[in-house]
This record gives sequence, C-alpha cells and structure tokens, in this order.
Amino acid sequence: MAVTIPADRPDIDPYPLSPYVEWAGKRNRDPILAVFKDLFPQTGDVLEVASGAGLHINYFAPHFPQLRFQPSDYDLKVFDTIKGKRDAADNANVADPIEIDLIRAETWPDPKDRLYDVIFVINIFQVAPLAIASGIAQVAVRLLKNDGILAIYGPFKVDGKYTTESNEAFDKEILAAQVPEWGLKDVRDLEAIAGKYGIVLKKRLDLPANNFILVFGKA
Ligand SMILES: C[S@@+](CC[C@H](N)C(=O)[O-])C[C@H]1O[C@@H](n2cnc3c(N)ncnc32)[C@H](O)[C@@H]1O
Repeated sequence: MAVTIPADRPDIDPYPLSPYVEWAGKRNRDPILAVFKDLFPQTGDVLEVASGAGLHINYFAPHFPQLRFQPSDYDLKVFDTIKGKRDAADNANVADPIEIDLIRAETWPDPKDRLYDVIFVINIFQVAPLAIASGIAQVAVRLLKNDGILAIYGPFKVDGKYTTESNEAFDKEILAAQVPEWGLKDVRDLEAIAGKYGIVLKKRLDLPANNFILVFGKA
C-alpha cells in the first residue's frame, strides 16, 4: 500500500531551526503534551535534552506552572531561538538553555547542583547515532531522582521490524540520504544499551503518526 506524505510537509531536514523540524514539532506537540499531563509530577524539575528551537519546552511549560523547565542542546547556535520563544511566551518557569552534548560527558551537569524528576527528548534518534542512547542513559543515571522518569519520543522499530508501513517509508526516505547515523533505531537496542547503566523501559506508549513515547526509569 502506498504511503501518502502530507502535502504541507517540508523536505526532511534535521537542522533544528529548519521548516521541517518546526512542521514536525507543531504536529506532534499536542499528542505529546496529552501524555506528559499524565506522566509529569505536579511540582519539581524537568530537563529537556536536544531542545532544538525550544518549540516543545516553551509550548509545554505554561501547562505546568509548578514545574521548572531546563532546556539544553549541544548546538549553542539554537540558544537565542529558545530564549526568544521563552520570552515571547513569557514563560517564567523556563530557564536559560545549557550545553549538554550527549556524546561528551564533560558537558553533563553536576548532580550536586540539581536532580530532575523528568528528563525528556524528542525526535533525535532517527538522525543521530545509536551511541546517543548510551549518553542519554548515563545522563539519566546521573541526573534523575530515584523515582524520576526518562521519556523518549520518536519513531522506532520494534524487534527488528517496522510497526507500520508509514514508518518503513519514512525510514527508507531518510536512509536514502546516506548519512551514516540516520535511520530508525530499534527499541530493543535502546533497552539493551540503557540496561547496561541500570535504566529500564517501564512503558511503551503509542502516539499518532506511528511514534512512541518510551518511558524509562532507574531499575
Ligand atoms: C531533529 S532535531 C529535534 C529538535 C527538537 N527536539 C524537536 O523535536 O523539535 C535534533 C536535535 O538533536 C540535537 N543533537 C544532535 N546531536 C546531539 C548531541 N550529541 N547532544 C545533544 N543534542 C544533540 C540537535 O542539535 C537538534 O537540536
């Protein structure tokens, strides 16, 4: 069966300030928010890694006025955009972004400064190496409170298989770009890597457009 690409979808471009990433973010933010309303605590601290333009964190923050939100990315060039969105929305509970590179441990915050109730990340695995999973798991071990959660949103394979035709079509499209680290990753590979650091998959939630939210926590 042929898979139809939405007519308004810009060409795939993972650059965080691209029209494609903005289009994807506007499409997925409400379904993600609906799930986060169930997952997030009433009060506490939330860290986003790979915040990109800050579209999600600034959209979510007003819905959780008692939570403090910390955006981050490895690309310092996105920081002004995150702050601009924060200021435009008057989001007093969104901090200035900080540098966290999931591949470079020297950029990871000191847990003595703050522990988090939630760490979330949206749409990075399909355009990043699987090694990112090791970074995310180690950041979670280091910075999550014992009962904290790590929520990972995106499209994934499961047990080596595509869960839908549209995910297969999307994967083929990004693989065709021939960028080595691009391509859908498998939930089982993430679980295996996270497990090495004592981070385990607690829930796999289905979201629209064949995406998942994977909820991990400390074992
Ligand atoms: C496709 S964009 C998604 C941005 C945002 N989460 C969203 O959904 O709109 C991927 C993001 O991952 C970030 N990223 C890539 N490699 C990273 C790394 N090693 N550490 C932290 N962030 C990284 C990029 O800078 C970019 O912001």
